[in-house]
Amino acid sequence: MLNVSDLGEGTPILWIHGFPLSSAIYEDQLAIPGARHIMPDLPGFGQSRATGGDVTIDDYARMMIELLDHRGLDRAVIAGLSMGGYIALAIARLAPGRMRGLVLIDTRETPDDATAREGRFASIEKVKREGTAPVVEGMLPKMIVPEAPEALRARVRGIMESASPEGVMAALRAMAVRADSTQVLPTVAVPALVLVGDRDPITPPSDAEQMAAAIPGATLVRIPDAAHLSNMERPEEFNRAVSAFLARM
Ligand code: MLT
Repeated sequence: MLNVSDLGEGTPILWIHGFPLSSAIYEDQLAIPGARHIMPDLPGFGQSRATGGDVTIDDYARMMIELLDHRGLDRAVIAGLSMGGYIALAIARLAPGRMRGLVLIDTRETPDDATAREGRFASIEKVKREGTAPVVEGMLPKMIVPEAPEALRARVRGIMESASPEGVMAALRAMAVRADSTQVLPTVAVPALVLVGDRDPITPPSDAEQMAAAIPGATLVRIPDAAHLSNMERPEEFNRAVSAFLARM
């Protein structure tokens, strides 16, 4: 069973978190009015237990579809940040009819190249030996801009430290072997919003531009002075963009 928070009333939005994070990254998005915010912790992250075995991005996508089933929702706006975006694009491929809209946040459609894939497997070995600390320390500087307030840095660190080694290793493997979603983008037939921090070093604005250009009618919004966690770094600008998108849907 996944830990899920389900708050608010209105257009259902399923918020899928990134790696190695949890649903807590979306706390500030609860302020977006007129929406029902469904925020799961993926297995091994936040307060959800790890599945204890290999998973794929498609498995995570199927868990999200099951979650919609359990909540009695035919369709929802599917929003995903980074790894959450990989999962959102898998939902777009596996169950396009379950999408009422698509929000891609600081993510990309392309798979890992050989170097990135090797890096993931090296990280898995490191987590086996040393736990999640090296992953947390390695990723924290890329998550938020260097001049971000200390309180935000502590919040992001705390969220990353809540991830279990099992969850982190499973997600690293899932991301390493994930499918190329390039062919999915032109098939998206629901309103789409692509958001990116204009200083994101992990999935830079060029990735977002490429995705927005390939999705029919997509809107691209750059969040100024934000890195990878644009929704936490600039919640007001981010929420304004999502609210405007919901109003247009
Ligand atoms: C994430 O934020 O989900 C990760 O940075 C994605 C990745 O490592 O590819």
